[in-house]
Amino acid sequence: MHRSAPSPRELLAVALGVARDAAATAYRMRVEGVSVAATKSTVTDVVTAADRAVERQVLDALRELRPDDAVLGEEYGTRDTGPVAPDGVRWIVDPIDGTVNYLYGLAHSAVSLAAEVDGVVVAGVVRNVHTGEEWTATVGGGAWRDGVRLRCSGEVDLGQALVGTGFGYDAARRAHQGQVVAGLIAHVRDIRRLGAAALDLCLVAEGRLDAYFEKGLAAWDLAAGGLVAAEAGVRVGGLAGAPPGPDLVVAAPPALFGPLHDRLAKLDAAGGP
Ligand code: IPD
Ligand code: CA
Ligand code: CA
Repeated sequence: MHRSAPSPRELLAVALGVARDAAATAYRMRVEGVSVAATKSTVTDVVTAADRAVERQVLDALRELRPDDAVLGEEYGTRDTGPVAPDGVRWIVDPIDGTVNYLYGLAHSAVSLAAEVDGVVVAGVVRNVHTGEEWTATVGGGAWRDGVRLRCSGEVDLGQALVGTGFGYDAARRAHQGQVVAGLIAHVRDIRRLGAAALDLCLVAEGRLDAYFEKGLAAWDLAAGGLVAAEAGVRVGGLAGAPPGPDLVVAAPPALFGPLHDRLAKLDAAGGP
């Protein structure tokens, strides 16, 4: 690790304070009322005033606390390091993961904030805006929810597994993803589409889902939740030994990873538009 970088615990302490304040803002803005401010990749890919306000708040807080770190956020993109020699820290923020849930008043969206050092995620927090449930992890330090150390499901039979997934915003991609789900559903206990990738990964971390997969995740969807899952014993990977990324993320306990991966490969889950 970079010599001048703070420890993962120190970075997590920063992340926690920033994410809690950000989630409080998201909650307050939800109570005040939400509407669509703009659309992004498609007409159903919406951004609310809260997405922007929350990311702006996170950027301002990080500039105050860690002025020389880089930041990657969903709404405002990249902010590079300050004038001081970089210490290799980059923050990755999804201000509201689960924006469609947020818009509709479904209590399943979260602030996701992770810290990378030299390209490796070392600390992360995911906080449910509505319930205050909070998942944290540091690399090598385990995954935790509200003081309880997490361990993923011990399920070994794919046929008994409750599997989460998600869909992109592009109609052609969704059609392909629907076919993948149609091909998978007879081989698992059931499928859940809860609407917030970061929370899906945290649910796998504590066995409230046995596994999860999705094509099309961005770095901000995966960073914090992926570390929480990995630190709870989940294998988080991509297709055919590739790292998890936009092509495919598969998150499953070690015994389920192979069978789920192979089934998804047969169904061309990383393919399509
Ligand atoms: C989305 C959610 C959704 C997943 C999409 C993501 P957003 O993030 O995590 O569950 O299926 O792939 O883009 O747009 O709500 O931040
Ligand atoms: Ca997201
Ligand atoms: Ca988002």
